[in-house]
Amino acid sequence: MIEIKHLVKRFGPFTAVDGVSFTVQRGEVLGFLGPNGAGKSTTMKMVTGFLTPTSGTAVVAGHDVSKEPLKVKQVIGYLPEGAPAYADMTPESFLNFVAGVRGLKGRAKTERIEAVVRMVHLEGVMRQTIDTLSKGFKRRVGLAQAILHDPDVLIMDEPTDGLDPNQKHEVRSLIKSMAATKAILLSTHILEEVEAVCTRAVIINRGKIIADGTPSQLQAKSRFHNAVTVTVRNASGGAAAVRGDLRSLGGVSDVQEAPGRNGAVSFLVLPKGGRAIIDEIGHHARTKGWELDELHAEAGRLDEVFRSMTAGEGVKA
Ligand SMILES: Nc1ncnc2c1ncn2[C@@H]1O[C@H](COP(=O)(O)OP(=O)(O)O)[C@@H](O)[C@H]1O
Ligand SMILES: [Mg+2]
Repeated sequence: MIEIKHLVKRFGPFTAVDGVSFTVQRGEVLGFLGPNGAGKSTTMKMVTGFLTPTSGTAVVAGHDVSKEPLKVKQVIGYLPEGAPAYADMTPESFLNFVAGVRGLKGRAKTERIEAVVRMVHLEGVMRQTIDTLSKGFKRRVGLAQAILHDPDVLIMDEPTDGLDPNQKHEVRSLIKSMAATKAILLSTHILEEVEAVCTRAVIINRGKIIADGTPSQLQAKSRFHNAVTVTVRNASGGAAAVRGDLRSLGGVSDVQEAPGRNGAVSFLVLPKGGRAIIDEIGHHARTKGWELDELHAEAGRLDEVFRSMTAGEGVKA
């Protein structure tokens, strides 16, 4: 549904987007991740036809944005960065205006506005001017205008930015509820958002894509992928003995102290080369007669992958 081909955007001598390519299929929620200034908003503005690329193009539902910008705008719902809206309008007048621009008329228009207002919970504020609304409600107005025409393609620039945890949760639920029937591209720098709603993540840094995969594929690049937390209640030789034992196991690369409770000792055991070591540790615990409070492996930490990639340090390939 979205095909981004070698997009480049230069502002004077500065290259903000430097040859970005990826695709988004129907049913996918693609999280576009990157630090501030990475080029996320600029890329989205080019895909939605609000900014002309220096080179490259995007094809949305079969329409090339540089040749058929209006067709592209018809199939896209777009929540721009900061969710701008006309401050002196009410949500009621603004959504009526947008619905009219989108070609909705008469009863279909009234019914669709009502449905969308229910979806994003705007009922209580429809007659209040937008500039008097809280940030959360302004964002909902932005979301409402983006989904009014039930677009096949939804592009949202930091849809949960500045919202409180309950509002974030609501917006994420709404996105998930629409995911099956649309192609969704959203930008974020919140990693938990990627884990919560995205089927795929593309990481961009300094205008270039540096990773593209499912959240679990990205987690597998973490040095904590398959790391095991083990908590021993009856460490007879004390913490040092347990640590020494764990370190001697074949699959283990490092053993780090973790906070224990009630006299138990706890370690985070890092594997060599991302291999699964939980069975080896469990087996060792049985032969040693350790009573375990805790034994679990983790999938990996997206925040660590993100930081190590965008700080320019290498991570495990
Ligand atoms: N109109 C513009 N003129 C000059 N530089 C710009 C313009 N828009 C964005 N930039 C620069 O391009 C880079 C990417 O910006 P942006 O796409 O907004 O990043 P992100 O959304 O990932 O935070 C930033 O360094 C930003 O300052
Ligand atoms: Mg941005």
